[in-house]
Amino acid sequence: MAFEKATTGTRSPQRQRSVYLTSAIAALGGLLFGYDTGVISGAQLFLIDTFHLSPQQQELAVSCVLVGAMIGAVIAGRVNDILGRKKTLIGLAILFTLGAILTAFSPTFIFFIILRVIVGIGIGSAASVVPVYISEIAPSQIRGKLVIFQQLAITIGIAVSYWIDLLFARYPLGLLPWQPMFAAAAIPGILLFVGMLVSPETPRWYASKGRWEDARRTLDSIKGADTERELTIIHDAIVIDSSQGTLKELFAPRIRMALVVGVGLAALQQFVGINTVIYYAPIIFRSAGVATANAAILATSVVGVVNVLSTLIALSFVDRLGRRVLLISGCIGMIIGLVILGLVFFIPGLRAGGAGFTLAALIIYIISFAFSMGPVFWLLSAEIFPTRLRAVGAASSTFVNWLCNFLVSVTFLSLVGAIGESYTFWLYAVFGFIALVFCIRLVPETKGKKLEEIEAYWMNGRKWVGVAPQSNTIQPQRGD
Ligand code: BGC
Repeated sequence: MAFEKATTGTRSPQRQRSVYLTSAIAALGGLLFGYDTGVISGAQLFLIDTFHLSPQQQELAVSCVLVGAMIGAVIAGRVNDILGRKKTLIGLAILFTLGAILTAFSPTFIFFIILRVIVGIGIGSAASVVPVYISEIAPSQIRGKLVIFQQLAITIGIAVSYWIDLLFARYPLGLLPWQPMFAAAAIPGILLFVGMLVSPETPRWYASKGRWEDARRTLDSIKGADTERELTIIHDAIVIDSSQGTLKELFAPRIRMALVVGVGLAALQQFVGINTVIYYAPIIFRSAGVATANAAILATSVVGVVNVLSTLIALSFVDRLGRRVLLISGCIGMIIGLVILGLVFFIPGLRAGGAGFTLAALIIYIISFAFSMGPVFWLLSAEIFPTRLRAVGAASSTFVNWLCNFLVSVTFLSLVGAIGESYTFWLYAVFGFIALVFCIRLVPETKGKKLEEIEAYWMNGRKWVGVAPQSNTIQPQRGD
């Protein structure tokens, strides 16, 4: 098809690289997300000493960042539309950098909490702005891979935070160990700031503001010969109405299904229990019979590295096998991992085996999450909403994701106390099964589709409409 041909093969390697580099720079926002959520696991012990924390204050120290992230997700959609993706990311880089330094020098616990909430606002905003930014500059054939840069960066951020925590716990540079742990986030913050200064705004944001010349210039710089075609397609999708989308519009009859998919995946991504592993892995290992804290922390670091490496599977296959294959196989893998994990705690013989079974079960689980729900949720939340509702749509899914992250994290220990480890993990397995059915029945395959084709899919009552070969434009039908 002429349209498809035009979107492949005409780009020079130089221009391709610039898309990769630009996406990698924006993905630093994801690295900060991963680092700033992961760092608390190792810092906790030292914060308790410095501020003499009660168990409740300890919970507050862990979860306040998630409250900030929820606020960030709410603000992000609007700010992202008004200022543009680039300026929003520059602002976030400043917030992350100052936040990191000020947190490190918090004189009191209250001050610390306020700063963690502020950094959380940055994390929640970045989580929705970064995928939108990348999806809007990426050519459709490699969009999946590029958006997954963000999840890769999140997992690297988490793994690095485990290692940095270990490092500063031993060599605190003459400070209290938790201080350099938090301050270290200023480095990716500065890199994000500098990188975004030299990165372009997205053509789709320019177009949504009627700035077609700017849109053309950006497309010229990153997509070469595709410029005219891309402009026509973007134009057809948004020319009818270039005002900003509102939350209410997400509930309009046909678009509502996109919201159901975005928000449903957001909730299920958390209800399969991923962050009980990310935040509490050392505790899980200890209660599964691992003898020492050091061995538990080491096992946790292994989980962190496996998380990063398995995200690479998604990176290589998402644009070839598609989103659905990854999601469906990942859900099956997670269910298997969680069922085994429950059994480890249920059958005394297995538990006596120590770390071996627990580590094996957690690794099956993490690998399966890391190539499916982890990256694919963020990817779909950035690509399934129509251009003018994309920011607010992604922000809504992100908000729900943080809310459910918060709910799972604050209830995990109480659940274990109330029903025991086995039933807790089996409960997450039930959510894994719900996620499996949800993905099979409701999630569309967006591999290789233009963002505007995906928009037309919803508008046509969940049917794919082709690209008209003569005009090379798609005809979204705005029936609602
Ligand atoms: C999730 C996070 C999680 C991380 C683990 C992300 O996709 O949204 O909540 O901590 O994956 O790798």
